[in-house]
Amino acid sequence: MKKMIIAMATAGLVSFGASVYAGDAEAGKALYNSSSCAGCHGANGEGGVGPKLIGLSAEKAKQLLTDYKAGKQLGPMTSMMAPMAAGLSDSDIDNLAAFIATLK
Ligand code: HEC
Repeated sequence: MKKMIIAMATAGLVSFGASVYAGDAEAGKALYNSSSCAGCHGANGEGGVGPKLIGLSAEKAKQLLTDYKAGKQLGPMTSMMAPMAAGLSDSDIDNLAAFIATLK
């Protein structure tokens, strides 16, 4: 619980500096559709084999993708997701995160 509060506080700080955030949602959308993301998470992030992505902030999505890329074990099915993030560049992650934040 304490860890979660710290994580939320950190996310708050990051979003406070959101004006420097450089993700391009259009580029992210194109990558989301051309990579296999949509196949597991749904065309609109509604979920499928993978969890739904609707509701994630750009900061949270970026953190998750960065953690998967770094090889961190997050959920029970990380082994399915980690290889997807492994090939993403930092700007790919920024763009995907910006796109994910637009999902409703
Ligand atoms: C083979 C199916 C598959 C593909 C393809 C895939 N994912 Fe995932 N994704 C998953 C699974 C399964 C999880 C949950 C992993 C876990 O338990 O840690 C996940 C988790 C995530 C999460 C964290 C969600 C959360 O709320 O914790 C994000 C963000 C994400 N994927 C984005 C992407 C993006 C962006 C792409 C394309 C580059 C992608 N995924 C491609 C299956 C997939």
